[in-house]
Amino acid sequence: MTGFLTPKEKRKLKPAETGSFAAPIPTQVVSSDEYFPEPQTSMQRAVEAHIRQFGADTAAKLGISRRAFFATAAGMAAAFLAMNKVYPISLINITLNGSSPVVVQGTPDAYRMIPFREELNDGQLAEVVSFIRTSWGNKAAAVSPRQVGKIRDKTDPVRYYELDLLRMR
Ligand code: HEM
Repeated sequence: MTGFLTPKEKRKLKPAETGSFAAPIPTQVVSSDEYFPEPQTSMQRAVEAHIRQFGADTAAKLGISRRAFFATAAGMAAAFLAMNKVYPISLINITLNGSSPVVVQGTPDAYRMIPFREELNDGQLAEVVSFIRTSWGNKAAAVSPRQVGKIRDKTDPVRYYELDLLRMR
């Protein structure tokens, strides 16, 4: 593969194995030698901090090393938990758009989460998901109507349909 980085850019890079935290899910962009990676964002830093903390606490309870805990399926689940704490996108998306069909061993699921994009406006939806994120022991940040609006626009099925038609032309 041909690299696209200049020698000066290459000198600024660190190997991913040593230059970034070995979390079950990467917490910063790494380069494939085709582009210069963006520095870690403040949200990615927050995800990393949650993963480190959750990993340390749980590994101590289980009497194993943090590294050993991260190698388990529960370690991966901990990383997803950390991401959901910081990024509300998945929760906003399922409430706006419902869930996609799931097929297990050839059988489609009987029940699906229904979409609420027509029933709830950005403010109402922000209130519902903020309630979920701060109830039953959850301590994630509240969500703003603006955050909901952005995801509403990006996941608008009508616009996606139009986009597909344009692609077919
Ligand atoms: C505003 C009200 C609602 C909110 C905020 C909400 C939120 C959610 C969330 C966050 C999930 C994902 C849970 C997870 O993966 O751990 C979910 C799943 C689901 N919800 Fe809702 N829900 C609402 C109303 C409803 C209603 C009225 C129904 C049924 C008529 C419903 C049916 C389902 C089903 C079947 C799933 C599982 C979907 C799947 O795994 O594919 N929900 N809901």
